[in-house]
Amino acid sequence: MNDFLVDAYPWLKALHIVAVIAWMAGLLYLPRLYVYHAQVPARSNRAAMLAVMERRLLRGIMWPALVMVYGFGAALAVTPEMAWQWQRYWIWTKLGLVALLTAYHLMLAYWRRGFAAGRYPHGARFYRFVNEVPTILMIAIVLLAVAKPF
Ligand code: HEM
Repeated sequence: MNDFLVDAYPWLKALHIVAVIAWMAGLLYLPRLYVYHAQVPARSNRAAMLAVMERRLLRGIMWPALVMVYGFGAALAVTPEMAWQWQRYWIWTKLGLVALLTAYHLMLAYWRRGFAAGRYPHGARFYRFVNEVPTILMIAIVLLAVAKPF
């Protein structure tokens, strides 16, 4: 089993990064759709079109990508290469930031259901602001994962 995990390690890491790119693309694009959606009348044709785009992005790309980020990340976590890394702080800090990124994903899903039901609790400015959150988290997570500074 150990030999298999050692051989699989670079492939698991590559698939992990591919899944991260797909998830990040959705986390950065979906709030942009909310910026436009917040500016069109509820129940209009444009609102209906945006609702379809948002649902397909979340269900067709973001949820599968999240599951694969976690799946390949968990597989990497049990490889021999990672054995001694658990005594260090970078991986725990990274997983803490990943939990925040996941909470952000769940908020996006909650806002999507609101838009689909014609509820607009926030304006375009709000979604422009929250669109910065995944960028900041992604930069911190990638620096921790690659540089492993502490
Ligand atoms: C629960 C989710 C996640 C888990 C369990 C996880 C776990 C891991 C593990 C164990 C490694 C291997 C580290 C190494 O051996 O060098 C790794 C690599 C990596 N992870 Fe994650 N990760 C998760 C989510 C993420 C997210 C959300 C991002 C980016 C936003 C990310 C970015 C990376 C990068 C860039 C690497 C490659 C680091 C290198 O090549 O040195 N991971 N991850």
